[in-house]
Amino acid sequence: MKMMTQRRLYYLDNNATTRVAPEVVEAMIPFLRDHWGNPSSVYAFGRQAARDVESARERVGALINAEPRDILFTSCGTESNNAALHSALVAHPEKRHVVTTAVEHSANIKFCASLEKQGFEITLLPVEPDGGLDLHLLEKSIRPDTAIVSVMWANNETGVLFPIEEIAAICRSKAVAFHTDAVQTPGKLKIDVKDLGVDFLSLSAHKLHAPKGIGLLYVKRRTKYQPYVMGGGQEQGRRGGTENVASMVGFGRAAEMAMAGWSDENTRVRALRDRMEKAILAKIPDSVRNGDPTSRLPNTSNIAFDFVEAESILLLLDQAGICASSGSACTTGSLDPSHVLVAMGLTPARARGSIRFSLGIYNTDAEVDYLLEQLPPIIAKLRAVSPLSPQHAAAHHGKAAQHTQPA
Ligand SMILES: Cc1ncc(COP(=O)(O)O)c(C=O)c1O
Repeated sequence: MKMMTQRRLYYLDNNATTRVAPEVVEAMIPFLRDHWGNPSSVYAFGRQAARDVESARERVGALINAEPRDILFTSCGTESNNAALHSALVAHPEKRHVVTTAVEHSANIKFCASLEKQGFEITLLPVEPDGGLDLHLLEKSIRPDTAIVSVMWANNETGVLFPIEEIAAICRSKAVAFHTDAVQTPGKLKIDVKDLGVDFLSLSAHKLHAPKGIGLLYVKRRTKYQPYVMGGGQEQGRRGGTENVASMVGFGRAAEMAMAGWSDENTRVRALRDRMEKAILAKIPDSVRNGDPTSRLPNTSNIAFDFVEAESILLLLDQAGICASSGSACTTGSLDPSHVLVAMGLTPARARGSIRFSLGIYNTDAEVDYLLEQLPPIIAKLRAVSPLSPQHAAAHHGKAAQHTQPA
């Protein structure tokens, strides 16, 4: 048998997904191996599984300061986002307008595009050059027939944060339901659904060192809810489908760990990210940070490297064992520039040369040092052969090199 040699992995793409924590794996194994009963069964073996699901619900509820019964487990963040919008529209059939932003995850953008095809009206709010929102414009865009406003808390590509509490207050004053996609926030920001004042909030376990295929939707008490996935009476009749017990237990364990360690870990991750970003911007000419440097997640840095294509950078980083990304992992393979960066007003060329580095609790100083050693020669090598680069143009046209912004 051919032996695979294992390369060292430098994983700097924690907004795409996170490593499942060993403690989470440990918590899940008994549910895959021994306690595999169906929580809906009447016998004790099934009833025990139902109790384990409820204790997982309590743990994820504690993470966001929600009552367990206000949480429904879903299969992922995408489903949670779709379900919130779907519910608001079905619960209020006379309202056919949705307000959201141009920089949401494709889980919202694509769902809204499909709603538009069905005859609903969608307002996609623009963003400022630093990725921020004009709240006055948001307020003005709410109409009597608006069923729901859906605005993400933290942008997955730039880490930029929107003022969710203020937006929730605007929506309350207009008696419109408010949903936030908080998928990128757990473990990085303190989440308190009561302080935030949201009606719906989405999370996904795989961004929090728990497995893929499990998420949650918080639905504020007394909010009308119409199921998106229909079938059995699971989740108090709000989401059909036999429960993914092991993953729910894993999500619960990860939530508990995040609560115990999130603030210390974030102080460390933020310092690591700031050191990485400062050094990249200092070492590499014509590199620019994208997005508001202050109001953003502690772990994310999005940097444009002029005159090069992000895909080429990623390939060479991959050869060095480093994982990073351009845009969202969900749009990888698309040659279009990131819709988030374009909405912020970046030129398509600059957007195409942008890379997202997203750190996590398992990253070390040594890993950042390795990136800082590998990245500058990669960019220099690509610029030397890039037709976009002034050095290249000068060499080919016999002119002096000039540093200009790409078109
Ligand atoms: C902001 C945001 N929303 C939604 C999603 C979708 O979550 P899931 O992968 O669990 O469907 C992601 C995943 O990248 C995300 O970053």
